[in-house]
Amino acid sequence: MIRPLPDASLPLPDADAQAHSAKVVGCVREAIARNGGWLSLASYMQIVLYEPGLGYYASGTRKFGEGGDFVTAPELTPLFARSLAVQVDAIRKGTGARDVLELGAGTGKLAADLLTFLEAPDTAAWRYRILEPSPDLRDRQRARIAKRAPAHASRVEWIETLPSRIDGVVVMNEVLDALPVHVVVRRGDRWYERGVVGVEAFALEDRALGEGALRRLAQTRFPERVDYASEINPAAEALVAGLAQRLACGALLIVDYGFPRHEFYHPQRTAGTLVAHYRHRVHADPLLWPGLCDLTAHVDFTAIAQAGARAGLEIAGFATQAAFLLGCGIVEALRATGAPESIGYVKAASAVQTLLSPAEMGELFKVLALSRGDGFAWPGFAVRDMRHRLGSADSV
Ligand SMILES: C[S@@+](CC[C@H](N)C(=O)[O-])C[C@H]1O[C@@H](n2cnc3c(N)ncnc32)[C@H](O)[C@@H]1O
Repeated sequence: MIRPLPDASLPLPDADAQAHSAKVVGCVREAIARNGGWLSLASYMQIVLYEPGLGYYASGTRKFGEGGDFVTAPELTPLFARSLAVQVDAIRKGTGARDVLELGAGTGKLAADLLTFLEAPDTAAWRYRILEPSPDLRDRQRARIAKRAPAHASRVEWIETLPSRIDGVVVMNEVLDALPVHVVVRRGDRWYERGVVGVEAFALEDRALGEGALRRLAQTRFPERVDYASEINPAAEALVAGLAQRLACGALLIVDYGFPRHEFYHPQRTAGTLVAHYRHRVHADPLLWPGLCDLTAHVDFTAIAQAGARAGLEIAGFATQAAFLLGCGIVEALRATGAPESIGYVKAASAVQTLLSPAEMGELFKVLALSRGDGFAWPGFAVRDMRHRLGSADSV
């Protein structure tokens, strides 16, 4: 059993939050019992993040921004959306299909800003569709878009499942990192999957992993000859494969933190990338305050690119967030925000610094574009395209 010690510096949740977490604990306990005493970390994450009314993303707690647990790029500054809009418009012009589908729209900030910045000729009918599994976040998105982009609110449509055909652009920012992952462990020549056990208190326990898809993937991806634990994310690969199969003409733009495979499964990254976020602190205990902490793993971008390529998409570009935003003109957009001595400019410059700095989001975050169709311009990959680092498109 492995039970990382909780970080003593983490703030204690208030009584209401603790009571909420106790309900989530009850739900996990029932699932462990139903499952014969052991629950995979992927099933545990599904409950603590998405159980209706209880999970981290499915209950009404504040997650985004200063009073929450983490800040995402669109929440930092509208210049993120303004730059992304340059690439989205370039694809929309190339396809002639103007629809946008956003997955996992969070507070609705990116949607409200994109609606404002995207080119919207009066004559052209186009939709901005949002697929968001959390009813609570859907309500917040509706309210935010009505307030921040009222002139465009009628274009927005919330959908429950992926449409059968997609023409246009699919956008997702920090969605794949929020999907439940399996944690596979190799010690010597033995293979295990990590899961959760316990009744009164939970603990992590590794259970022997039989032959099967998960083990085959780990065997192919893990480095040789080191004891190793890391994530496999079939949910992310399946989501991208599903989008790719439906994309008739256009592109997927995927923004997230992560690495190409050789860096993700680096021999020295022996403990994987799964972490928890709570009140702007990162900790390593996935069992601490279930339902109150965000659990997240980095993205294996090679796996995501291959999922798209297997469904016939072209890997159109792969860049660091910094290179992508520079290519989309974020510096010029910053200059246009006002006089350099104005408070507005200084605030915007500080946010842009966070988006671009290699020490913050600039290098760890990447943008991957997967496309079907010809004739698109790719300003986001003009500064630097590192597709070649994703490896071969046809390995597993
Ligand atoms: C870390 S948040 C990012 C929110 C927002 N994109 C942003 O950048 O601020 C993850 C989002 O993905 C959503 N999500 C989780 N699973 C999803 C799925 N299968 N399809 C679409 N969205 C999903 C969550 O509900 C949440 O809105």
